[in-house]
Amino acid sequence: AIDISKLRDQSGYVTLDIGYKNTGATKSAITFLDGELGILKYRGYPIEQLAEKSSFIEVAYLLIYGALPTEQQLTDFQYEISRYTLVHEDMKKFFDGFPSKSHPMGQLSSLVCALSAFYPESLKPIQTNEEVHLSIIKVLAKMATLVSWIYKKSLGHPVIYPRNKYDYVTNFLYMTFGQRTEEIEIDPVVVSAMNVLLILHADHEQNCSTSTVRIVGSSESNIYASVSAGISALWGPLHGGANQAVIEMLEKIKEDGGDTDKWIAKAKDKNDPFRLMGFGHRVYKNFDPRAKIIKKACDDILEKLGIDDEVLDIAKKLEEVALKDPYFVERKLYPNVDFYSGIIYRALGFPTDMFTVLFALGRLPGWIAQWKEMKDNKEPIGRPRQIYTGATTRDYVDIASR
Ligand code: ACO
Repeated sequence: AIDISKLRDQSGYVTLDIGYKNTGATKSAITFLDGELGILKYRGYPIEQLAEKSSFIEVAYLLIYGALPTEQQLTDFQYEISRYTLVHEDMKKFFDGFPSKSHPMGQLSSLVCALSAFYPESLKPIQTNEEVHLSIIKVLAKMATLVSWIYKKSLGHPVIYPRNKYDYVTNFLYMTFGQRTEEIEIDPVVVSAMNVLLILHADHEQNCSTSTVRIVGSSESNIYASVSAGISALWGPLHGGANQAVIEMLEKIKEDGGDTDKWIAKAKDKNDPFRLMGFGHRVYKNFDPRAKIIKKACDDILEKLGIDDEVLDIAKKLEEVALKDPYFVERKLYPNVDFYSGIIYRALGFPTDMFTVLFALGRLPGWIAQWKEMKDNKEPIGRPRQIYTGATTRDYVDIASR
């Protein structure tokens, strides 16, 4: 029999921190955030400046390579990505296998992992810098195409091939909303709103999906498998899935007559599992700086597109009431980035179940940057410990005697 006391001696002390509320898993030079002061910076640049002045692809370069690109570097980066926007035609067979109503996140996670089958060079555990760079370019390029394909499949429409004269975000919108039957113009207002949304989601240090990407990558799994795992982690309603859950909640409140007080009371009731979706954050305990930017962007885009959305009025009322309520004040529960993002996605024409996939597209540069940093730092395989609480030694009982 195993001598448990000896095992205990060998394992030494274990820090028990369920949910990693206060345990650092790595050192990182990518994203800084201060939850008390509501500060978020990518590579030292405040999120407010990046959202106002930068483009998503420029931010992707910044996160992955550590510095803002020069004009030439940005042109080269865009050009390299545009060379890989086509997805292997055989990938369409996977699409055919999915039921038409299957959730976009399940499709995206499977499809991104399936890309590894088409790019076997990515399976080499040790790669040159050029090989790693090429894998990064391919993931960035192909994910936008896959997301647009998923949308087209949900409509039963044929896919639209990329137009590489467009920048990354315009190309994505073109593949998503374009039609084979006629030329369409992509509204610059929509392009700029999409850029802001993707920038705000681009990285957020060691959250659930990013930690997943790092931990999967730490076993030397390839970039496609690591990103696919991140997509799965993002899917849940307590993480990226919150943006879908928020709109579903707001719609429900609207159908129920718009009585926000009643729903706030439900969220406070400890016997009711309902939570106010889009409220609260593990790290931000003052305000989420992204929520401030997105709330303003939401007002701007709705005004520019001439949309009057009753759901936005309910959201604002809910926020107003909750921010004064002692339950939310004491627990430091503020609207997070996803409280308003869904309203913008809706205004841009995306159906609700596409919202989390758009979050994944935005988070992609962050996942890549964190995966690359983990590799560059030669971090050991991630392997948390546990406190065992199960049975001590038991003798096997034959099935007839149980
Ligand atoms: N509505 C009502 N009560 C809440 C909410 C909420 N949205 N969020 C937290 N609380 C309460 C909890 O019931 C708990 O109360 P108690 O102290 O009386 O038991 C207290 O606030 C602390 O909550 P925890 O769950 O311990 O906080 P944690 O840091 O673990 O969770 C989380 C953070 C998951 C974001 C949580 O606030 C939540 O579920 N929010 C709703 C989902 C959501 O919007 N997720 C998106 C997060 S942002 C992102 O991933 C991009």
